[in-house]
Amino acid sequence: MPKLIIANWKSHKTLAEAQQWVGEFISQPVSENTKVVIAPPFPFLPVLQWQLKDTANVSLGAQTISPFPAGSYTGAVSAFNLTDLGVTHAIVGHSEQRKYFGFVSHVVGLQVEQCVQNGIVPVVCVDSSYLAEQANAIPSDLLKKCVVAYEPVEAIGSGSNAPTEQVRNMVSRIKTIFGDVSVLYGGSVNAHDVAEYLPLVDGFIVGTASLNVADFTALLKTMAA
Ligand code: PGA
Repeated sequence: MPKLIIANWKSHKTLAEAQQWVGEFISQPVSENTKVVIAPPFPFLPVLQWQLKDTANVSLGAQTISPFPAGSYTGAVSAFNLTDLGVTHAIVGHSEQRKYFGFVSHVVGLQVEQCVQNGIVPVVCVDSSYLAEQANAIPSDLLKKCVVAYEPVEAIGSGSNAPTEQVRNMVSRIKTIFGDVSVLYGGSVNAHDVAEYLPLVDGFIVGTASLNVADFTALLKTMAA
């Protein structure tokens, strides 16, 4: 199965910078053993969709999603809003959403429902402290429809990623709860250390090392080597 790599740009970049990144990125083919999902800020999605229209193995992702359907929810972006924008995946439960925006496990359950109803794969981020609580909030018949990302809070954006043994243990805990789902690792992954995690996981969420297209391409090359 191809490895899934999600570039999580968070709230970085202008539209012009995003277009330049994508233009440089698609000038070289992406290995067919890799599926890349670019998760930009919401307003960039339609332009990047157009830019990516002829590119194989690359699609778009959302960094979060409304827990509600389309309707009177001012400020929200619903999964329904994204249905014709080429969005294949949505990150839910990211620790930054929990820390800065007050999202709680109950909300993540609703987000997963919205994703599945609208044909978007939910990428559920978990840390050991809220893995069980977050999984309990997801309807049990939807657990197997999730991709799960182990994102230890202390490793995110810190430049110090998790020991491989810790990742191995969490992958097995996640599979015990969610079933045989794809499990990603996220937390300060870069071209220098990605190889050590490759045998353990089905892919990665990459934040800092996805902002510069050369760093991100180097990471993909190391993976393909
Ligand atoms: P990082 O971010 O690669 O900068 O640690 C990962 C994430 O937050 O998903």
